[in-house]
Amino acid sequence: MELSQSIDAAGLRLLERIRILNGVSTNTEWLERTLFSPAAEAAAYKLKSWMEAAGMEVTEDALTNVIGKLNCSPDGPDASTIHLGSHYDTVINGGAYDGALGVLIAIATVEAIAGAQIPMQHNLSALAFCDEEGVRFQTTFLGSSALSGQFEKAWLYKPDALGKKLGQWLVDRGESIDEVLYAEPTIRPQDFFIESHIEQGPVLESANKSLGVFTKIAAQLRAEVELHGMAGHAGTTPYRLRKDPLPYASEMILEVNKLCRSDERVRATVGQLNVFPNASNVIPSRVTFTVDLRLAKYADLVEAHEALQSEFNRIAKRSGLQFVYRVKHTAEDVTLDPRLTGILSSHCQREADSSIQVFSGAGHDSMKIAQVCPVGLLAVRCRDGLSHHPDEFSTDEDCLAALKVMVGSVLEIDREL
Ligand code: HGY
Ligand code: MN
Ligand code: MN
Repeated sequence: MELSQSIDAAGLRLLERIRILNGVSTNTEWLERTLFSPAAEAAAYKLKSWMEAAGMEVTEDALTNVIGKLNCSPDGPDASTIHLGSHYDTVINGGAYDGALGVLIAIATVEAIAGAQIPMQHNLSALAFCDEEGVRFQTTFLGSSALSGQFEKAWLYKPDALGKKLGQWLVDRGESIDEVLYAEPTIRPQDFFIESHIEQGPVLESANKSLGVFTKIAAQLRAEVELHGMAGHAGTTPYRLRKDPLPYASEMILEVNKLCRSDERVRATVGQLNVFPNASNVIPSRVTFTVDLRLAKYADLVEAHEALQSEFNRIAKRSGLQFVYRVKHTAEDVTLDPRLTGILSSHCQREADSSIQVFSGAGHDSMKIAQVCPVGLLAVRCRDGLSHHPDEFSTDEDCLAALKVMVGSVLEIDREL
């Protein structure tokens, strides 16, 4: 089959699969596909069947990453591989494109190249990472870390919201902890990784361009705050006898908001707030909330984080309550590989008349994998720059344009690098 025909056929399947995957959710009211959920299991099953239909050898690892491999190199399965992929988990009440589009474009890219029987120097793979959002354990990039030999043993002891640790999840699922800790990395230094992902921002739309290339990804930090007071009767306990953590937590949350307002470059968010026992006639005994902090440069993030922590400590001291502060995740800012970015950009110019370069405030598996091998990241326009929202949307034309750029870029990487 001609390459252009093969791309068109793969493109039609791509569009259909976006819609199918968008319906795979643990929740009927909104899209929710988190690590180890029934929806994640159902999605992995579909992804495996699509990868197999494309002629790939498919495996699923202990963490539920789905790995499709096309051993097309004349140098055998261990030859350098061009990995394509993204994550198939979502945030709660997420959108249909964040992660999923990149996974499905990866499958379609391999499908198009295999369908046209183009002789390749490198092997190809399509990777579906099981947990980029970090919803369950607040530790993002779990899947891509494991596949790139960067899984940390300490993560096994991370509890989810119900206190069940990652290691216990693996044991209960009959998985081998050793496999997670000592598996041969799928992604190696001699390989390449290309991800396509919706921009999750307004730049492409405001430039009226469908595609662009990410050049940098912001540094990020996630922390969790606990304030412990004492429960009491709302009707009988006078203020002077109360040990209510909620007012002090509220002051701290306002400090996060103040930091975000203070500087256009700072992104500071409290996304989760839990009050225990969360009953209208009970003075709370415990409050926990999360902090998500992003800045372009890690050094600036450290400085902003220190300032925020000293505000928290000041408030905690005045409260006289037990204050626990845990940093759950940090990732330094990343610059994407100039060669791969150049190749992606040249195909964006050809396909979409775009030489737009985008800075990503959102994190991506590419951040993690860039610690191991050269990485390129293609940005796809999304409506209103909206993401982590059910109205997240990219047009079929933009998705198909991204597929064409991915195919062209992979073939050029295969020839040139
Ligand atoms: O939070 C992020 O930046 C990404 O969506 N995980
Ligand atoms: Mn996301
Ligand atoms: Mn994402």
